[in-house]
This record gives sequence, structure tokens and C-alpha cells, in this order.
Amino acid sequence: MEFLKPIIQRIDKELSQLDLPQNPASLYDPQRYILSTGGKRFRPALTLMACGLCGEDPEKALPAALAVEMLHNFTLIHDDMMDQADSRRSFATVHKKWDTSVAILSGDSLYTEALWQLQNLDPAIDFRAMNRCFLEGIRAVCEGQALDMEFETRNDVRLGEYITMIQGKTGGLISAALQMGGIAAGCGADRLAKLHHLGMSLGIGFQMQDDWLDVVADQTKFGKQTGGDIREGKKTCILLSAMERCNKEEIIWLQNCLEKKPMPDEDVLDIIGLFERTGALEETKNEFLGYYRQALDDLDAFDPSSHKEDLTRLLETLMMRDY
Ligand code: IPE
Ligand code: IPE
Ligand code: MG
Ligand code: MG
Ligand code: MG
Repeated sequence: MEFLKPIIQRIDKELSQLDLPQNPASLYDPQRYILSTGGKRFRPALTLMACGLCGEDPEKALPAALAVEMLHNFTLIHDDMMDQADSRRSFATVHKKWDTSVAILSGDSLYTEALWQLQNLDPAIDFRAMNRCFLEGIRAVCEGQALDMEFETRNDVRLGEYITMIQGKTGGLISAALQMGGIAAGCGADRLAKLHHLGMSLGIGFQMQDDWLDVVADQTKFGKQTGGDIREGKKTCILLSAMERCNKEEIIWLQNCLEKKPMPDEDVLDIIGLFERTGALEETKNEFLGYYRQALDDLDAFDPSSHKEDLTRLLETLMMRDY
């Protein structure tokens, strides 16, 4: 993502200069740690670009962009405990490097630090609207994460329920990221609704692709353990699609495997084989590409500008990502 470098460097610089206290170290070191491990940083880039897209200097949205990235990192700390993940961005997850108590509290504190960022917004910006949008996004993420966990122990999850779940856990923050850029630019309800729609299309596409990468990615590049969703019994679109295409015997076998905790490596490999054989992997790829195309169409409704060009390139880059 070469063209994104200046924006990402700007965000990284701000994040590395956050004025977090040194003590208690067990509260602030994990926050500094996760923020220093990088990541794509595309959510804050969306906030800045959406502000530009709506006709204002992207700098105006900087506190909102930082809030979005900090909130995202908080969700990752807690998500990794919920998903029992040991690595993230090729580094140990916070609860592995420290412990769960540290991960709970440093996550909560990072969440608060994200809200603090909004205090730095230019007073001319509609703070109430900004705050509401952020809170709506956070509520959606929590609702989506709750469904994600509930689905782990269900074996009758429908595709529609999966979409609702990912709209919340992933669309919620991506949509908020875009709308917060719009609010910083003083957009009215019409353009905010368009940004929301764009965020949902992108959020659904991005999460389906993440689920797909969880099966097919090169683990070193992906930075997270591949096959993690299979081991955790996640009801991803790939699993749902495979189940629709399986015969009765295969379904019984699959459900039997999903009940094993921990799942043996050979079962994980056999399930991946089933995903390939049934065409579930290919179907998922087509599905997520469709959502990215929808997002590009949603973006088309905005006036031409260099920011629109950047956003188009960002969407195209994400669409082709392999990590
Ligand atoms: C991970 O998001 C969580 C999902 C919604 C799949 P990213 O893939 O954007 O994570 P980083 O910030 O780049 O590590
Ligand atoms: C997480 O979805 C979305 C969040 C709200 C963090 P995943 O659980 O699939 O994200 P990864 O794969 O751990 O990054
Ligand atoms: Mg998760
Ligand atoms: Mg996870
Ligand atoms: Mg995932």
C-alpha cells in the first residue's frame, strides 16, 4: 500500500506520541505494545479520507481517526482472549505476553483513551453527533461479538444471521470510521447515510475475506494462526456454505469434529479439504469480491476529488490483500 504511506506514517507518528503515563506499567505497557505492532491502519485512513471526500481538510478528522484506531486495537485485545488466539500481527497477543487480567484492564483503559481523543476535536465540529456515531459503532461491535460467541455452540446458524453478526462486529466500526470523517467535514444526513452504506458493504466484504484468509493465507504473512476459526467452531460463511453442500454423513462427521476441543491437526486439514472440495472457498471469494464491488459503487455517488481516487485505490488494495 505504497500510496497510503504518508497517511499511515502520520497516524503512526501520532500514536507513538500519545501521552500515556508510564505507571502503572501493567496498564499502559500493553497499550503501547499493541499500538506499536502496526497493522493495516486502514480504518483511521478511512476517517481522514472521508473527511477529504466530503470537502474538508482531512487533518480536521485526526482526533477521530486516532480514536477509531485505538478502539480497534482495544477490540483486538479482547477478541484475542475470546478467540483464544496466541498471535496477532506476528507478535504474541496481550493476554499471552501478560495475562488475562492485564488484557481485560488494559483493553478497557485503551477504550477510554480512545474516547479521550474526541476531546481534541475542533470545537466547531458537532461533538454530540461525533460521539453518538462512535457510540453506535461500539454498540454494534459488542452486539456482533456477542452473536459470534453465541454461534460457536450452535449448529443451525443461517447465512442471514452470519451477515447480521459481521455487520455488527466489523461493519459497525468501519461504518463509524467513515461517518466520523463525514461529521468532521460537517456532512448532513444524506451523505452520512451514503458513508454508512459504503461502510457496511466494505465491512461485510472485509470480514468475509478475513474468514477466507483464515483458511487460505500464509500464516507468516497473515500474522495470526490460520485455521483458528475452524478450531474455535466459528460459524463463518465458508463453514455455512460447505454445510449446505455436504451430504448427511459429511455433516455428522463435521459436527463431530467441531465438538472436539482441542481439535486435532488432521481434522483441521480434513475440514479445509472439505471446504475446497465443496467449492465453499471459491463461493466465499466470489461473495466477498461482490461486496467490495458494491462498496466501490457506493463510493461512486460522491463528487470527483483526489480523496475519492485515494479511497478507490484503498478499496482496490484491500480487495486484493493476502494478509
Ligand atoms: C482484524 O482487523 C479484525 C477484523 C475485523 C477481521 P484488521 O485485519 O484490520 O487488523 P490489523 O489492524 O490490520 O491488524
Ligand atoms: C473480529 O473478528 C472482529 C472484531 C471486532 C475484533 P475476528 O475474530 O475474525 O478477527 P481476527 O481474525 O481475530 O482478527
Ligand atoms: Mg473474533
Ligand atoms: Mg479473532
Ligand atoms: Mg478472523
